[in-house]
Amino acid sequence: MAAVVLVGAQWGDEGKGKITDFLAQKADCVVRYQGGSNAGHTVEVKDEKFMLHLIPSGILYPATLCIVGNGVVVDLEKIIEELAGLQQRGIDTSNLRISRIAPVVLPYHKKLDTLEDRDSHIGTTKRGIGPTYADKINRIGFRIADFLEDREILESRFKAQVEYKNRIIREIYQEEGFDWKQLLEETLEQVGQLKPYLADTSYLIYQHIQEDKKVLFEGAQGTMLDIDHGTYPFVTSSHPIAGGACVGAGIGPTCIDRVLGVAKAYTTRVGEGPFPTELHDADGQILRQRGMEFGTTTGRPRRCGWLDAVVLRYAVRVNGLTDLAITKLDVLDDFATIKICTAYRYKGQLIYEFPDTTSILNQCEPEYIELPGWQQDISHATTYNDLPANVRNYLAKVEELTGVKQSLIAVGPGREQTIVNDQLYK
Ligand code: IMP
Repeated sequence: MAAVVLVGAQWGDEGKGKITDFLAQKADCVVRYQGGSNAGHTVEVKDEKFMLHLIPSGILYPATLCIVGNGVVVDLEKIIEELAGLQQRGIDTSNLRISRIAPVVLPYHKKLDTLEDRDSHIGTTKRGIGPTYADKINRIGFRIADFLEDREILESRFKAQVEYKNRIIREIYQEEGFDWKQLLEETLEQVGQLKPYLADTSYLIYQHIQEDKKVLFEGAQGTMLDIDHGTYPFVTSSHPIAGGACVGAGIGPTCIDRVLGVAKAYTTRVGEGPFPTELHDADGQILRQRGMEFGTTTGRPRRCGWLDAVVLRYAVRVNGLTDLAITKLDVLDDFATIKICTAYRYKGQLIYEFPDTTSILNQCEPEYIELPGWQQDISHATTYNDLPANVRNYLAKVEELTGVKQSLIAVGPGREQTIVNDQLYK
């Protein structure tokens, strides 16, 4: 098995950074395929914490090729900052490659994201993600390579775009616009700094797959934040689902061997939007405190609730999950009883499939089963059999409800706190 796609099975923040880091130990190549600096992956190695927003977590392994694919919207300033931060800590970044055709997040995208979110109340990360993807689809955006090609064409397009954005910023929002010449110079300077990292990344990935090397596609955000299949409009503007890996990396679906969904043993979401199992009581507080559920990118407290198996079954369907990684299981250690949502009650009827519209979802009430907790510290377990019977019982129930085997189980944030039922990469 050589090509694995790793996706978030919930609303993001599932602990994908840790699982990516675990798999990256064996991977030859790690690829980000969507999103941008709205993502925040935390990796802990021997008491050192690394916060990565754009660069794949695989960068911590010197031999691993790390790719920012064409589907990622690149904030040049942020990626330069991230590179400098890694280099200062002695991490070799020479194995990073950034797609030449990735869209560039410009300062006006970030400004518009902030201004537009005041009215739309999505609760975005204000990193310019939506406006940059909108420009790409509108065919008025800039790709990195545009800044390396014909200067005259670039200048005229850039001037026109900045002036157009300035009109929106000034006339609709009564805020200050941008000086196009200064912005262009700054952007050219940033692209110049990144030149050694730029490449035709689709070709590099294809070569790796042809040579049967181990490739890991690292999804950001999660299934329920997918622009098509998430809880629209409370979603991000990209395709975190497994299909997004093909588009955002430039490879065909036949190249993918396995799809690993990462799910927390409970559920969280940041920002606005429906969340059927959300808890507003003391249990929700316990999950937030024990799970340290505060955004990596924005610091916002995350909304917390019980595990939702309806969501997980939906994630199995829209991603074609072959494996699951269950994370943060130790966060449930103190509970006397633990709930799992197995269905929704909608207009008096039980439904088992995730509704395809947000308006139906808003009228759904979760139906729970209750399982006994284990009330002991499981963070030192290293094998499945080390886990107390009630933990195994809980995991077996989740497996029964999702129909997907749990290949990895995380019982703490450290690299070594991972129980391996199936290595994925042999
Ligand atoms: P955007 O991606 O900044 O446009 O934000 C759109 C929605 O996705 C908001 O609800 C954000 O809170 C959410 N979101 C974006 N990135 C992440 C992430 O990495 N984890 C969790 N939620 C995210």
